[in-house]
Amino acid sequence: MSAVACLILAAGKGTRMKSDRPKVMHEIAGRSMLGHVVAAARALSPERIVVVVGLGMEAVAQSVAPIPTAIQPGQKGTGDAVRAALPAIEGFEGDVIVLFGDTPLLSTETLERLIAARRAARDPAVVVLGMRPADPAQYGRLVLAGDGTLDRIVEFSEASDFERQIGLCNAGIMAFDGRRLPELIAALGDDNAKGEFFLTDAVAASRARGWSCSVVEGDPAEVLGVNSRVELAEAEAIMQDRLRRRVMIEGATLIDPKTVWLSADTRIGRDVVIGPSTVFGPGVTIADGVEILGFCHIEGATIGAGARIGPFARLRPVTMVGEGAHIGNFVELKAAELATGAKANHLSYLGDVSIGAKSNIGAGTIVSNYDGYNKYRTRIGAEVFVGSDTVLVAPVTLGDRSNIAAGSVITHDVAADALAIGRTRQENKPGWAPGYRARKRAEKARREREKT
Ligand code: UD1
Ligand code: MG
Repeated sequence: MSAVACLILAAGKGTRMKSDRPKVMHEIAGRSMLGHVVAAARALSPERIVVVVGLGMEAVAQSVAPIPTAIQPGQKGTGDAVRAALPAIEGFEGDVIVLFGDTPLLSTETLERLIAARRAARDPAVVVLGMRPADPAQYGRLVLAGDGTLDRIVEFSEASDFERQIGLCNAGIMAFDGRRLPELIAALGDDNAKGEFFLTDAVAASRARGWSCSVVEGDPAEVLGVNSRVELAEAEAIMQDRLRRRVMIEGATLIDPKTVWLSADTRIGRDVVIGPSTVFGPGVTIADGVEILGFCHIEGATIGAGARIGPFARLRPVTMVGEGAHIGNFVELKAAELATGAKANHLSYLGDVSIGAKSNIGAGTIVSNYDGYNKYRTRIGAEVFVGSDTVLVAPVTLGDRSNIAAGSVITHDVAADALAIGRTRQENKPGWAPGYRARKRAEKARREREKT
């Protein structure tokens, strides 16, 4: 079986996005569109991947490193972009798949069907992924020959009214025989209304040489090309539905699936229950049996088996919540590590801190981790009891089983098993209240007399 090389075109300006960011860097489910395409390509285990970027698109190149990039100096069309990548695959004789950085919903299975068609007995020089969208809009149209093979692709800008009636469209993804690709690219011209080198003209060039071309049809929802923010939102919705289905199939209950937002890399175990309106940013892994009550925002966090989170909790990178730990309402964690069975149930900010097993963090505890210049780490041992409304001024260490009195401001380390009280001592005045009430009543009566 021949090898596969993937060329991913990402040099386009993406003017319709109205953005300073390159189009392919816009995100879907917490991952750039280009990142999704790279992931689909990678799953084919290709011998090579090359991403074509424009001049000055260093951020795009960096985002795919160590995958090599080829630079297309001027954006003179998709055919010109493939030409820019040819030196990077010189001498490659396997199947070359050309993908677009702006079709992020593409599945690996569809690419595998495309490759299988390229390797069919007829030995086509080009196989094109086709689709029949409800609205063919401005997609290129696929013109079939009498025998059902592909005769040519006509770009919308070049198409006659008759050709525009064709419902079968070019999804943009194509598989080429690597040995014949350079000759086809050399044959492309720019004699068209846009003055661009259309990769789609490679089909007519093949036919002119007596080489056959064919079409594999795909699901339009999978090959949606994103050219504007409206299409970006459409792609996001399709991707979210897919991701929600995946986690449900893998054993998670989503109480109101439409309100749970996942990232492409979210990993959720079995018997996990997720309440409404919860957002998972990138880098989240959740073990089995975790309960996430609603309205949580979780990013860059690993949550251990049986933990309970929320409602209204915010977990920020890089957080580790141990098995059976509890994080309650209005608790924010940042770079926090909670060991097994630790609890922070109400109204806390816990940043740059490690908390030992079974420690209990009282309501309103704040870790004061930042002095305006630097951040410092706080260490809380195991089975520590931190009373409510405590401020831990970092860096500070609380020894195992130590006890912090409510309302304390803790600036010095506390030894294991010690009690720390960091507040003014309470003073009681027996029998003081009746005199106070009498004084206040008299004062009020005097004021009322003065008014009248
Ligand atoms: C292209 C196809 C069209 C197809 C549609 C599917 C051509 C000529 N047209 O049109 O038949 O129906 O996709 O979505 O191929 N790019 C470069 N360099 C360039 C131009 C584009 O790298 O000089 C990249 C873009 O970054 C993008 C991809 O190629 O990822 C497609 O370019 P785009 O301008 O979106 O092509 P469409 O007009 O959508
Ligand atoms: Mg496009």
